[in-house]
Amino acid sequence: MCGIVGASAQRNVEPILLEGLRRLEYRGYDSAGMALVNGGVLDRTRAVGKVQALADKLEAEPRPGTLGVAHTRWATHGGVSEINAHPHTSADRVAVVHNGIIENFESLKQRLIEAGYAFTSQTDTEVVAHLIESYLDDSADLAEAVRRAVAELHGAYALAVVSRDDPQTLVATRSGSPLVLGVGIGEHFVASDVAALLPVTRNFVYLEEGDLVVITPDTFAITDLHGAPIERPVKESGLSISATEKGGYRHFMLKEIYEQPQALTDTWQGRLSVDDILASSIGTDAEALLSQVEAIHIVACGTSYHAGLVARYWLEAMARIPCNVELASEYRYRNPVVPKNCLFVTLSQSGETADTLAALRYAKDLPQGQGYLATLAVCNKPESSLTRESDLVMMTRAGPEIGVASTKAFTTQLLCLLLLTGMLDRDAQKRGHLAADIRKIHTAVSQVLELDDAIRHLAEEFVDKQHALFLGRGPMYPIAMEGALKLKEISYLHAEAYAAGELKHGPLALVDENMPVIAVAPKNDWLEKVKSNLQEVSARGGKLYVFADADAGLNTGPGMTVLDMPHVDDTLAPIAYTVPLQLLAYHVAVAKGTDVDQPRNLAKSVTVE
Ligand code: AGP
Repeated sequence: MCGIVGASAQRNVEPILLEGLRRLEYRGYDSAGMALVNGGVLDRTRAVGKVQALADKLEAEPRPGTLGVAHTRWATHGGVSEINAHPHTSADRVAVVHNGIIENFESLKQRLIEAGYAFTSQTDTEVVAHLIESYLDDSADLAEAVRRAVAELHGAYALAVVSRDDPQTLVATRSGSPLVLGVGIGEHFVASDVAALLPVTRNFVYLEEGDLVVITPDTFAITDLHGAPIERPVKESGLSISATEKGGYRHFMLKEIYEQPQALTDTWQGRLSVDDILASSIGTDAEALLSQVEAIHIVACGTSYHAGLVARYWLEAMARIPCNVELASEYRYRNPVVPKNCLFVTLSQSGETADTLAALRYAKDLPQGQGYLATLAVCNKPESSLTRESDLVMMTRAGPEIGVASTKAFTTQLLCLLLLTGMLDRDAQKRGHLAADIRKIHTAVSQVLELDDAIRHLAEEFVDKQHALFLGRGPMYPIAMEGALKLKEISYLHAEAYAAGELKHGPLALVDENMPVIAVAPKNDWLEKVKSNLQEVSARGGKLYVFADADAGLNTGPGMTVLDMPHVDDTLAPIAYTVPLQLLAYHVAVAKGTDVDQPRNLAKSVTVE
C-alpha cells in the first residue's frame, strides 16, 4: 500500500529509483513520483497512472541526481491526481515520501497554515513535509528535524526525506509501515520491500518500529527517535531477481498459479518425517506448547481469512479442537472472550496487513489471565512485522507473490494449516495418514493445471455476464468464497458464494438463464447433498459449471457443464479445487481485458486500517 524507494549514491540514482518503483508497483498504482537533489536544487516529477507514465515523463525530461526519493501511490487522503502524488515538498527545500496514514494531520495542517505554510494537496503527507521544513529552520540537521516532526505524528508511517541543503543525506523512519535499508558499496538505499532493491544489493537491514536511519553514499546510522544509536544486523536476502520477474508468463498471476506444485512441495518439506508431522519444525518448544492447546482463534483478512475458514473444518473434525475464525478488521473491536489455553493464529501473505497486525498486538496486550497461550503467524514474508512479533512462525514458503490477486500464498497457507492440524492431532496413526496424503499434493495440483485450456474456453462464456454465484459445502464452501473473490477482484464481475444448502433460503431467487452458477464437487461426504442442491439450480433454468471429481457421477448435459477433476484425497480437495477457480478468474479477466496483476482500486499489501 504505497511503495517507497530512496537512494544516496555516487552515481545517478534516477534509473535505480525508477526500477525500484516498477518492482513496488504492486503496492499501489494510482500515481507515481520522484524527487532528486541535484546541484542544490530539488527536482520533482510526478504523473498520474502507472510508473510507466512517470518513466515517460522522465525520459522526455531526464532529472539526474545522486540523492532522491520516489513513491508509487495507493490513494487514501485526497483523490488520484498529480497534485496529490508524492513526493510532497515544502518551500522547494524538503521532499517527503510516505506510506501510511497520519491521523492528526488536520490539526497539524491548521497550525502550519497559521504559521504561513501554503498547502497544495489534499493529502495527509503534505503536513509532514512542512513540519520538517519548519524544524529545519531551528536546526541545521535534517535527522533532528525529522525526529522532532515525527514526535508529533499520530498514525502509521514509513517516511523517506531529503533536503536540497544536504545533497548526500537521506533520512528515513518507520512506525507501523514496513521499511528496509539496502546496504551497497558506496551507496545506500531504503525501500518498502527488499524486492525493490534486488538489482542493486542483496544486503539488508530490516528496520524496526521507531528506528530512524540516516544514509549517505558511504555510511548508515540507525538511532531511536531520541537519537540513541541502535545496532541492527545486516542480513543477506536469499531472494533471486528472477523470483520477482514474470519469467516468460504473460502475467505474474499466471506464473504464480503455475508455481503452486513446487511451492506446495517447498511448504511441506522438512516438516514431515516418514510417518509423522513434525511440530519441532516450527520451533524447538513448539511440540510442548502445541500439546497444551485447547482452542484456536484464527484472525486474517481477505483471501487469508478464507484459508482460516477452511482450517476450522480441519481443526475441529480432525484434531477436535474448537476453532473460531474472524476478520481481523472486526476482531479487536468486539472485546472477544479468550478460552483457556487458546492459540492465536494470524494468516497473512505480506505480514504487514494493518488490520491483522493490529489484531495481533491487541491479542498480545490482553491482561494476564485473560489472554492467549501463544501467538502463531502463518506468513509468506520473512522478516515481516507479523513474523517478528509472533511467538511461533510457520512460513508458507510460496516465494514472492507479486500479482495483487493472491494465489500460491493461499494454497500454501492451506497446506500450513493442514500441517498445523496434524501437529495438533493426538492420534499418531491419523498423523501418519495425513503425512502420506500431503506428499501427493505436487501430483494432484499438477494434474489440475492440465485443465487450463478447457477452463480458458469455458471463460469465454463469462465475458458478457454481470454476476455469478459460487457454491460449495463443508470445507469447499470457503473455497467457493475464494473463487468468488478472485473473480470479483480481477474481472470486476459481481460474484457471491453460498454454502450450497443455503441457496433455497433466498439466493435461489436470483437464478435464471443469465446467472452462471459455479460449483465445486469433490467426492466427499457432502457430494450427494451438493448434487441435490445442483438439481435445485437446474430446475430453475440456471446454467451450471461444475468442477467435479471424475467419479462423482456428474456429466455435462443441458444446462450443466462438468469439468472432470482428478480424484484427490478429502484433505487435499480444498487445495486442489482452488486451482481451477483461480484459472477461471484469470481467463475471464484476460478475455475481458482487465489489468490482471494490478486490478483497479486495489493494492497488494494493505498497510492502512
Ligand atoms: C487477495 O486476492 C487479496 N488481494 C486480499 O484479499 C488479501 O488476501 C488481503 O488483503 C490480506 O492480505 P495478507 O494475506 O497479505 O494479509
